[in-house]
Amino acid sequence: MAILKVARMGHPVLRETCRPIDPAKIAGPEVQRLIRDMLETMFEYNGVGLAAPQVYTPVRLVIAGGEQREDGGPLLRVLINPEITVLDETRREGMYEGCLSIPGWRGYVERPAHIRVKALDEAGKPLDLELEGYPAIVMQHECDHLDGILYVDRVEDHSKLGFEEEIQRYHDLAAPDDADDADEDD
Ligand code: NI
Repeated sequence: MAILKVARMGHPVLRETCRPIDPAKIAGPEVQRLIRDMLETMFEYNGVGLAAPQVYTPVRLVIAGGEQREDGGPLLRVLINPEITVLDETRREGMYEGCLSIPGWRGYVERPAHIRVKALDEAGKPLDLELEGYPAIVMQHECDHLDGILYVDRVEDHSKLGFEEEIQRYHDLAAPDDADDADEDD
């Protein structure tokens, strides 16, 4: 296992359209090592999610948190070749997002609050999830990375984009479900 370097905004790898992963290769050592290293990297930097291009590997793989297990612990999902469908265009939810590739910054983004995501998991099995609220926001943030989109691209009101300390001092950082989550970076 290894803690990987995280690409920061400005590096072109974050602006690439990532290539799909061949499902036949999911069980292979390369993809499995990438998943393990991404998990370790995410824990090290206290992220709630991480996308492969953030560790300089432009393939369609993300790790997304934000959900809870039945025992209350965090539920992390590995999603390969994810595809998001918005289930309700009218309902949107906003929060101050952060990103490990944009350290020290926060920005207010509104996104659809109810989505469906289809993907393959780390074992190559199909996943079909319906997500709402905070987990839906995390998932969209991570999947945006696969198309070269960063949350700052989606900040409409630039007065709500800035350094974490100033945002914490002058703005309401609360996340829709759990204000504690606002401390984490995606
Ligand atoms: Ni991010």
